[in-house]
Amino acid sequence: MSLKEDQTSTHEIKSGGSLIGKVKVPGDKSISHRSLLLAAIAEGETTIEGMLPAEDPISTAYCLKAMGVQITPLIEGTLVKVQGVGLHGLKEPNTVLDCGNSGTTMRLMMGLIAGQKDKHFVLTGDPSLSQRPMKRVGQPLKAMGAKVNGRSNGDFAPLSVIGQQLHGAVIGTPVASAQIKSAILLAALTAEGPTTVIEPSNSRDHTERMLKAFGANLKVSGEMGRHITIFPGSELKGTSIVVPGDISSAAFWLIGGSLIPGSDIIIENIGLNRTRTGILEVMEKMGANIEVLNKRTIAGEPVGDIRATHSKTLKPFIIDSEIMPRLIDEIPILCVAACFCEGTSQINGAGELRVKETDRLSVMTRQLKKMGAIIEEKPDGLIIEGVGHLKGANLDSETDHRVAMSLAIASILADGSSTIARSNAASISYPHFWTDLERLKI
Ligand code: S3P
Repeated sequence: MSLKEDQTSTHEIKSGGSLIGKVKVPGDKSISHRSLLLAAIAEGETTIEGMLPAEDPISTAYCLKAMGVQITPLIEGTLVKVQGVGLHGLKEPNTVLDCGNSGTTMRLMMGLIAGQKDKHFVLTGDPSLSQRPMKRVGQPLKAMGAKVNGRSNGDFAPLSVIGQQLHGAVIGTPVASAQIKSAILLAALTAEGPTTVIEPSNSRDHTERMLKAFGANLKVSGEMGRHITIFPGSELKGTSIVVPGDISSAAFWLIGGSLIPGSDIIIENIGLNRTRTGILEVMEKMGANIEVLNKRTIAGEPVGDIRATHSKTLKPFIIDSEIMPRLIDEIPILCVAACFCEGTSQINGAGELRVKETDRLSVMTRQLKKMGAIIEEKPDGLIIEGVGHLKGANLDSETDHRVAMSLAIASILADGSSTIARSNAASISYPHFWTDLERLKI
């Protein structure tokens, strides 16, 4: 059953126990989306191994299929095959493109279709996605000649896009967002003349890496790769992709393993792309016992296994805007970690969290306060006291997958059992989270 249909699930979590054993987290969500999108506009077949078979990538596949792309079903452990239609081959869909809960689907799709000349597209999403800002993508695309409209002067879905012949541009993005950057890069593939995106700091670079793997003509320059230029003209060629495990899903086990007494857990096959490993840097500063094992490179992405064992004491941490893009999705679980550090932790420069699947700063504050956490909410961050203990409570994911999984770890650490309402939200990025938890919690 899809999350949209199932808002009633509840999990009960008994406190105590340890996390012991090995776990393989599902494929990286960002890389899964991009592999489907680029495969769709490549020439020939692409095979994708390790695809995340969860609701968000399924939304991407659904939209692409509605535009005439053949994609085999996204099933756990099964190679996905995509028959690409070429840069200009997407069909005008005869239905609305439902992006579900997925911001990545909607934003990257906007870039993908903006240059599909004379075709009309309507993008929509669930109630959460329909409240998330889209002008941040529509506006730069308009600077390239795109026609994008939507509610509230183009900021909210439903959106309508009428494909145009785009022209290249130099675009500075106001926020370091891989979704904005990727939408522009996708649109740039069919524009007349080169396009350069300049980011304020380095967001995840999976699109750039994958574009190169598909044969796009792309130059990355500037400090830490912040200027990215696409020279249109080259066709993309179907290829083979291997998706590593998602560090954002591994984060729950990394923090759980460090915080929960007696834990010793190995998370296998995690993508260790430097634009995603901010959490490891913070955990190192906290003094957590984590060890990267068996480091290797698979299909252009660094990968490794990580062992996390319980740390008796953890130092408080300060996170600021410089590192934020490299751990943006890990803030909810870091809020849980902060409750158990010896001192006060600070999360600054996190205003973007307010426009994720939920307002994660408010939701985490509200939910953890039910457990006795001491958190001060600021406009762009949080100050969290290391109270050292939490109490069981009736919690709610508020439909946010990362909140559901963060609260599961908090519940194990709490005194007394907890319930988590709308727990199936986890299936957005980690369909077998609850069965993994059941197996690992001893
Ligand atoms: C993503 C980028 C991030 C992240 C999201 C996935 C992506 O969003 O929070 O979960 O795949 O590009 P922003 O780029 O908007 O920060």
